[in-house]
Amino acid sequence: MSIDVAVIPAAGRGTRMRPATRVVPKALITVVDRPAIQYMVEEAARAGAKEAIVVVDLDAGHLVAQHFSIEGPLPGLEDIRVRPVVQEEPLGLGHAVSAAAEMVADRPFFCLLSDNIVRPGQDVLPALAEGSNDGATSVMCLREYSDEYLTKYGFVVPTSDVKDGYLDLGGAVEKPGPDNAPSNYGLVGRYLLTPEVFSILEKTSPGALGEIQLTDAIDELGKRGRLKGWIADTDLLDVGSPAGLVHATQELGTRGVDS
Ligand code: G1P
Repeated sequence: MSIDVAVIPAAGRGTRMRPATRVVPKALITVVDRPAIQYMVEEAARAGAKEAIVVVDLDAGHLVAQHFSIEGPLPGLEDIRVRPVVQEEPLGLGHAVSAAAEMVADRPFFCLLSDNIVRPGQDVLPALAEGSNDGATSVMCLREYSDEYLTKYGFVVPTSDVKDGYLDLGGAVEKPGPDNAPSNYGLVGRYLLTPEVFSILEKTSPGALGEIQLTDAIDELGKRGRLKGWIADTDLLDVGSPAGLVHATQELGTRGVDS
């Protein structure tokens, strides 16, 4: 099914990137020749989105908007409208996504976490859209991770075998650790979500780390029987930490930023 809107939560404080992020919002940290946020907007545009809602904190809104509008639209992004929305308080990823509820309204949407960039030529959003052919099912991008990641990511509850890369899911647990992990299939930061998630988020209480977790709302979608996963071939590039940024810069600098 075709998806015309993307939500890009980018309001994190960038604590892993201090002191670079004392003044510069983390979404505007440069990777090769463009700010990190531009990669996600380009990825959403390639997948057919006409609107990218970027969730920012109060200080970053006008800078992000300016980047996409100053001197006219960026080449290749003429068909996508970038709209910042402010997350008033840093209460977690689920809370950040719900800041976009009014703008998204009743449309299914892509959600792209801004700490990660897809590798050139390895887009994952089209496969998520393809997996939700009924329009009522949310589809998670997954990777199989080793046990050391069980405290770092969200992990899902498989309820079927994998067929053509897809599987049915019955829920998800945020940062479960080895004792509570339902599987080794982890959420990599690319989602296709149905608008049903907004009403669930409204009722979601703080979970892991005391934050309102997107994974807890995803868990509820699974319990309602409207959740699938798709297993990606490759990992995304992490630009939220200095070591990840060096690696991503090297990879994108060598292979070319325009995938
Ligand atoms: C977030 C999500 C988590 C996901 C991860 C992917 O965690 O909450 O479910 O696996 O992104 O990068 P964070 O990195 O914000 O701790």
